[in-house]
Amino acid sequence: MCGIIGYLGGREATPILMESLKRLEYRGYDSAGVAVLELPKAGEATRTSVTKSEAKVDTLIEKLEANMPSGRLGIGHTRWATHGKPTYINAHPHTDCHGKIFVVHNGIIENFAELKAELQAAGHEFPSDTDTEVVPHLIEANYKGDFLAAVRAALKRIRGAYALAMFSSDDPELLVGARLNAPLVVGLGDEEYYIASDITAIIPYTKRVLVLGEGEVAAITPLGAEVSTLDGVTVKPKIVHVDWDVAQAQKGGFPHFMLKEIHETPEAVANASRGRLSDDGVVSFREFDIPDEQLRGIKDVLLLGMGTSLHAAMIGEYVIEDWAGIPARAEDASEFRYRRPTVGDKTLDVVITQSGETADTLVALQQAKARGALTVAVTNVIASSAARDADGAIYLHAGPEIGVASTKTLLAHMVSLYLLALRIASVNGRVSLERRQELVEALRVLPDQVRGILARDKEIAKLADKYSRYRNFMYAGRGLGYPVALEGALKLKEISYAHAEGTSGGELKHGPIALLDDQFPVVAICTASSTKDKMVSNVHEIVARNAPVFALVTEGDRSLDGVATDLFVMPQVEDAMSAILNTVMLQLFAYHVAVKLGQNVDQPRNLAKSVTVE
Ligand code: AGP
Repeated sequence: MCGIIGYLGGREATPILMESLKRLEYRGYDSAGVAVLELPKAGEATRTSVTKSEAKVDTLIEKLEANMPSGRLGIGHTRWATHGKPTYINAHPHTDCHGKIFVVHNGIIENFAELKAELQAAGHEFPSDTDTEVVPHLIEANYKGDFLAAVRAALKRIRGAYALAMFSSDDPELLVGARLNAPLVVGLGDEEYYIASDITAIIPYTKRVLVLGEGEVAAITPLGAEVSTLDGVTVKPKIVHVDWDVAQAQKGGFPHFMLKEIHETPEAVANASRGRLSDDGVVSFREFDIPDEQLRGIKDVLLLGMGTSLHAAMIGEYVIEDWAGIPARAEDASEFRYRRPTVGDKTLDVVITQSGETADTLVALQQAKARGALTVAVTNVIASSAARDADGAIYLHAGPEIGVASTKTLLAHMVSLYLLALRIASVNGRVSLERRQELVEALRVLPDQVRGILARDKEIAKLADKYSRYRNFMYAGRGLGYPVALEGALKLKEISYAHAEGTSGGELKHGPIALLDDQFPVVAICTASSTKDKMVSNVHEIVARNAPVFALVTEGDRSLDGVATDLFVMPQVEDAMSAILNTVMLQLFAYHVAVKLGQNVDQPRNLAKSVTVE
């Protein structure tokens, strides 16, 4: 989950690398570095300037501003350490024995130990502890005067995952990118070219993007980008136009990306159903147009994801079973991939992934596909690995999400899953016209209802202020409120570092209740639903253990007046929409607790936005 960038063109490379690394920092931020092939002064040989920092990109930028290398070709990296501590030596770019070949890498080289031993036996020296360092040495070992051929030969020896940007000072007009099981795009500008881990890094410069396939190599020269396989077979490049704009990828006046992205939820939920839902509740996904007949043949639905996306999957499980009346199950993709599950050609496998690059989710997708399941990726990133690997893709169109904590994309995932449930329910004849119209209306007013919650930011901040003194939290809910509770707890722990756990209301007295006392508050999801009364009983049990309770209740419901310590009154809405509004509220609550505690909400410790390793 490191971020990589490469540039070749007519402009100074260093400022472009600096800006792009800032935008890529959400992928990893424990060290950073750039290598720029400097323009030779008269009579001098070409030289590469390498600048590294064992801290965040800002420290690297300070160094570069003090001593700016001048050149038109360069690569840069922001690291999320996998092999070797975040030190100066381990920071990328890495180079060969003669300091000619420079490489930045995202991914993990699984057979690096054996390759390193082999290269060391041949006399190569390795100052770093990284797996990456074998790449420049392997290229060096295969170099016979043709850099591209050496790259291909080296990559054929590598197992694992890589997205790479590379150059050699012997070929000052050649930038090379390659990928396998890790994301990489090539930006096509006006006589200038970029390599980047994702589109976010390069949208200020170009919206034309060449999507590199698995095991493909892009050779970029001033004349253009040519794509080939590791065997040197030319591949017709796939070029897409990206519709994100620069402002979408910047903070837009908010103190943090996370807050900005929470405030983009009204648009995200609107975009998720835009153009997909007729007034009569007929759903059609342009990108995933399964004929009714085929959909009718689906006997069960498997929903796979990790983290927040697993919680979205759980919400999908509830609504698909409830509305479409067919078995649905949500699974942790990292567990699924190591089981021998019962998946067949009557299974619809719905893969939930914001980034489309989560390693466990991608493998689980491939396994479900191999067992004959019809697969669909629900993702925010066009042409991401999940979108390409699945039989079809449903895009969220939520715009880039930079904050490490997923926020608006979860809500867009929820809406997308509601539409999918409605689509399956419709072909199975399980939903009346009246019910469909009700849902259409509920989705139509949803963006304004979300705005209503966002407008109560100060009220939520006040509650967060009060609760921020606690170090332990329990979140409890039932039905759709259960995954919402799990997500509320995940959000709080990942950005505030408070201990928070989620539980179903029913499970509470089977163990978790033992933790409760007057220093262990419970966030209880008690908004209107078929199990609301059960949750109210749970709150009484909690209060009897002296735990403070802050409850989300529906307006007009007085059952917890004088019982819960604090009430947050939500509007009366359809159950599925209530799950969305409650989630937004809990995201804002977690955000304000974290801000109050002075945490770095956009880049929480030990986390990265896109988990591209197992
Ligand atoms: C959410 O706040 C987390 N950062 C994390 O749990 C995330 O949802 C998970 O890594 C899955 O990511 P994906 O949606 O990109 O697959």
